[in-house]
Amino acid sequence: MRSIFLALFSTLALLACNGLRDLPDPESNADWKTQALPPSAQSGDGDSKKGLEYLIYGDYIGTGIPFSFLEKRLSGQRDTVLNRTGNGGLLSYPFNAFQATNGVEVVAGNCFTCHASMLNGELVLGLGNAGSDFQKSIKLQASLTNTLVKSKYGKRSDEYEAFEEFGFFYKSIAPWIKTPNPGVNPAFRLEEACANYRDPVDLTYKKDANFETIRYTLAADVPPLWNIDKKNALYYNGMGRGDFAKLLMQASVLGIPDSAYARKVHQNFVDVVAWASQLESPSYPGNVDEALAAKGMPIFEDRCSRCHGTYGDQETYPSKLVSLGLVKTDPYYARYFTTVSGLAGWYNQSWFANSAPASKLEPQDGYVAPPLDGIWATAPYLHNGSVPTLEALLNSPVRPALWKRTDTYDYDQVGWKYETPAKAKDGYDASLPGYGNMGHYFGDKLTPEEREAVIEYLKTL
Ligand code: HEC
Ligand code: HEC
Repeated sequence: MRSIFLALFSTLALLACNGLRDLPDPESNADWKTQALPPSAQSGDGDSKKGLEYLIYGDYIGTGIPFSFLEKRLSGQRDTVLNRTGNGGLLSYPFNAFQATNGVEVVAGNCFTCHASMLNGELVLGLGNAGSDFQKSIKLQASLTNTLVKSKYGKRSDEYEAFEEFGFFYKSIAPWIKTPNPGVNPAFRLEEACANYRDPVDLTYKKDANFETIRYTLAADVPPLWNIDKKNALYYNGMGRGDFAKLLMQASVLGIPDSAYARKVHQNFVDVVAWASQLESPSYPGNVDEALAAKGMPIFEDRCSRCHGTYGDQETYPSKLVSLGLVKTDPYYARYFTTVSGLAGWYNQSWFANSAPASKLEPQDGYVAPPLDGIWATAPYLHNGSVPTLEALLNSPVRPALWKRTDTYDYDQVGWKYETPAKAKDGYDASLPGYGNMGHYFGDKLTPEEREAVIEYLKTL
């Protein structure tokens, strides 16, 4: 009897300290199966060249670490990936150097921290970074930077002023973005932590939290940016509606001072949307067995197109949100936004939703069936990046429950070559809530020959 109590007690204690008890109820009552998500009006007419320039030189994060603080720590070598001019050229590609409003030059991460990746020896802008590891806490690094910047320049200096907002959020987001698995990205947790301390109406910093957050971090694979031209709604659960330029600039809540600054950033993000919309997926670098791919095409059109659309000369994309009950993939990410997270509530009362052109977050209990352009390049698969290869995605019994990504991309099986680590904490553990590899059983019924043909066809998209 005593041992039962002990077991029960330690389970409860474990749940409490992981924050698991706060997770959403995974069961959804949604009685719909699929919904076609409608398009919304866009700002239009951006300049894609200016959009890319703004992404790699621009001031959309608002504040950052003073350049003079980092200067001595840089190698002095110019970065040959983006070949930037000015001090930005002394930084590696995921960082921008720009002027804060008071004229001090600062450094902050840019969108390519998460939205660029090496593929076949080349950096592909727009390809999600699947190699990041948010398992390590950045808490120490964040407090150290705060202390060092303060002691070097003093609290009343211009440098500190240009750093303060960034420094505060850097420190306060640290506990919220530590993920229980490698490779997954906690972007929305990062945003939640920032939005939580901003007045929704004018986006200024405030002391008290707007909403409660849970301690367990649900995170996602980073999607490629080349699909946004086809999409009517953004994000895995399709919650991003309305003006895309507003949705794409959400990272600005990390360091900008207020909504007047946000309005200026937005003007530039019309160009950023134009840049992202003209991106094309990369072509498969290996040889495609054309005869086999031609056999795969009608099978794909029969079994997959109703959700994922058609490719080639006559492209169609149905823009479908598929209910959790039908797709059966891990429900926690979608359920988090419909039942637990305060982010959508904050967003829909905020400058992002209440100034023209409006954008909104409308979470629902489902996941979007994404366009499959360049799908050969974007492993791991599913919203939570739980499945390392296309073969495993289309044959659920072979999905590994615990796996560790190697640095080798397998162009034949399509996806990451992986190993099985000895300890769960050293790999992707699909038994954790929110990181399950279940669902999307649509490939299971294919014969091995049909599956091989479909995979060959997918290489051509
Ligand atoms: C910390 C990493 C990180 C940073 C920085 C970041 N993103 Fe993302 N982004 C993500 C993740 C993760 C998602 C997936 C979230 C989801 O769909 O639920 C995402 C989703 C998106 C999407 C939606 C894609 C789709 O198919 O629905 C777009 C567009 C996007 N990001 C653009 C940007 C831009 C532009 C910037 C820079 C201002 C940026 N992101 C900065 C991680 C990041
Ligand atoms: C009923 C609709 C539906 C059908 C039919 C369907 N899928 Fe999907 N598919 C989805 C949804 C929804 C997702 C996203 C699930 C998630 O991320 O949790 C998805 C995800 C995928 C992904 C991973 C995308 C990524 O970027 O991670 C691939 C690849 C894919 N499907 C291929 C196929 C193929 C091949 C078929 C046919 C054998 C098929 N699907 C049939 C709805 C469907």
